[in-house]
Amino acid sequence: MALSFAPLEGITSYVYRNTHAEYFGGCDKYYTPFISPSDNTKIGRKGFKDMLPENNSVIKPIVQTLTNNSESFIKFAQKVKEYGYDEINLNLGCPSGTVVNKKRGSGLLREKELLKSFLDEIFEKSHIDISIKTRIGFSSPDEFDEILELYNGYPIKELIVHPRCREDFYKGEINYEAFQTAYDKSRAPVCYNGNIFTTDDYLQTKGKYPNLNHIMLGRGAVANPALMREIKGGDRITTAEMVEFTHILADKYNRILSSDHFTMHKLKEIWLFMMWNFPNEEKVLKTVRRTEKLSELLRAIETLPALG
Ligand SMILES: Cc1cc2nc3c(=O)[nH]c(=O)nc-3n(C[C@H](O)[C@H](O)[C@H](O)COP(=O)(O)O)c2cc1C
Repeated sequence: MALSFAPLEGITSYVYRNTHAEYFGGCDKYYTPFISPSDNTKIGRKGFKDMLPENNSVIKPIVQTLTNNSESFIKFAQKVKEYGYDEINLNLGCPSGTVVNKKRGSGLLREKELLKSFLDEIFEKSHIDISIKTRIGFSSPDEFDEILELYNGYPIKELIVHPRCREDFYKGEINYEAFQTAYDKSRAPVCYNGNIFTTDDYLQTKGKYPNLNHIMLGRGAVANPALMREIKGGDRITTAEMVEFTHILADKYNRILSSDHFTMHKLKEIWLFMMWNFPNEEKVLKTVRRTEKLSELLRAIETLPALG
């Protein structure tokens, strides 16, 4: 079973991915958070740095993109290929209002004609493997049969399914029935993504879908960055590891961002998830939420107890 780290905007930057791969290991594939080539096909500075080969020397990720403009996609895919990548991932899941209003991400799922003409173009004219990360519908899981039928018309390298609708955002029940449909009927190999927070969650999912060969972990892996290692039979995470990992990230971000303030915000995003391991540590959580000082954040996490 391949285990991958989901793309998480604001968290899984190249700094995070490289450090995670070196420090914890256990993860077979990483994805960049979405990179949006603008309609004139320029790539923003942040996205560009995230995919530069020299910034990805520890582990080569799969580059994810978010667009509904076929010309932008095709040009961007060409650039991705020139940079030495073999696969590009298309984001058809992002639920954010600004993205959806522009008919991108999961917003494209309710624009069936636009989606079809976009997929027709990109699959005809791109010279790189294309995988898709999708939700099961915009408003209702009833939309999924039609969406899957559409996907089945293309040579998709892999279909990563997060079995929720856009309207669910990241909350609510996982729709296992819809995932079963993808598992049974998708022409492309499928990958499962959603709510894997523990080794038990992983084992249950694996048990439900015995022929699955890829599971993607998102928030669970941010909260417990050793989760993939644990799933593969390695040691459980310790508080000391979390603290040391944080210091390594802090040093690297400080060097790149030259700002304690920006570094603090990067670490805060991560710690809001890592604090899930310490449900009784309300005082530390309050500091993580409220502090504007890197030194204060680092001092607060030093006081966390060992994990049981
Ligand atoms: C803060 C945050 C940022 C995310 N950014 C992206 C992104 O850039 N691209 C993407 O496809 N999904 C993104 N997602 C969705 C995750 O990749 C994943 O599909 C989702 O969290 C469900 O998996 P999980 O339950 O394992 O977390 C993001 C989710 C969160 C919470």
